[in-house]
Amino acid sequence: MTGTGPKWQEETAYHVSKTAIERTVRRKMGEIELPSSSGLGASLYTALKHRRSQRSYSPKRMPIQELATICWAACGVNERIGKADLRTSPSAGATFPLELNLIVNNVIDIEPGLYNYRPAQHVLELLALKDMSEDTAIAMSNQGFIARAAVVLIWSAVIGPIESRYQKRAFRYIYLEAGHQCQNALLIAYSLDLSACPIGAFYDQEVANLIGIDKDEETPIYAASFGNLD
Ligand SMILES: Cc1cc2nc3c(=O)[nH]c(=O)nc-3n(C[C@H](O)[C@H](O)[C@H](O)COP(=O)(O)O)c2cc1C
Repeated sequence: MTGTGPKWQEETAYHVSKTAIERTVRRKMGEIELPSSSGLGASLYTALKHRRSQRSYSPKRMPIQELATICWAACGVNERIGKADLRTSPSAGATFPLELNLIVNNVIDIEPGLYNYRPAQHVLELLALKDMSEDTAIAMSNQGFIARAAVVLIWSAVIGPIESRYQKRAFRYIYLEAGHQCQNALLIAYSLDLSACPIGAFYDQEVANLIGIDKDEETPIYAASFGNLD
């Protein structure tokens, strides 16, 4: 069914915008060890009471520790039982289908580019070094504030393993898990005095190209932008 709304609403997946964003080549180019997450900040109650989606970001660079805390809150490891890593957010059958990709624009000690958060090691894997701020905003239905964020988190799902375990319920679980992770990240951002906004208005194919994934195997699900309060 087609509606009268903006283009990105017409399909839930695999829609291509008119502005083709070249596919990013993902190369493992090294790792950045993240500092431990910070336990400072407003209480959970205060964050729940006051949080709002905020789309205005100052040009001030975000400290790496705050970025580390956001990643950890989204899907970091909080307990090891035998060989299993359990995390801050729940996952159906501990299948963990989500990948956390980062477009870093303006963070102290981290070059602008594309990264992947690896929860088990609490490191960022560097995949591409380039300024992706404008392309990110374009892929996300031209929402200009996104280009001014210090960092944009993009959750993508690896479909194969969760689908073979849960068949038709796989996507339900993927969406639910993305909600868990994004809300964790938004609440911790509030507690750290940062601005943050969830983002669902984007062109799937363009975002897949942006982060260099093959959409038949891994698909973008959700995103959020973060920065210092303006
Ligand atoms: C699934 C989802 C997708 C969203 N996508 C966008 C978006 O693309 N751009 C945007 O500016 N806000 C987006 N938002 C934020 C909503 O506009 C916002 O949550 C809503 O207006 C309520 O305001 P509040 O979050 O401050 O309570 C999204 C929120 C959700 C839950």
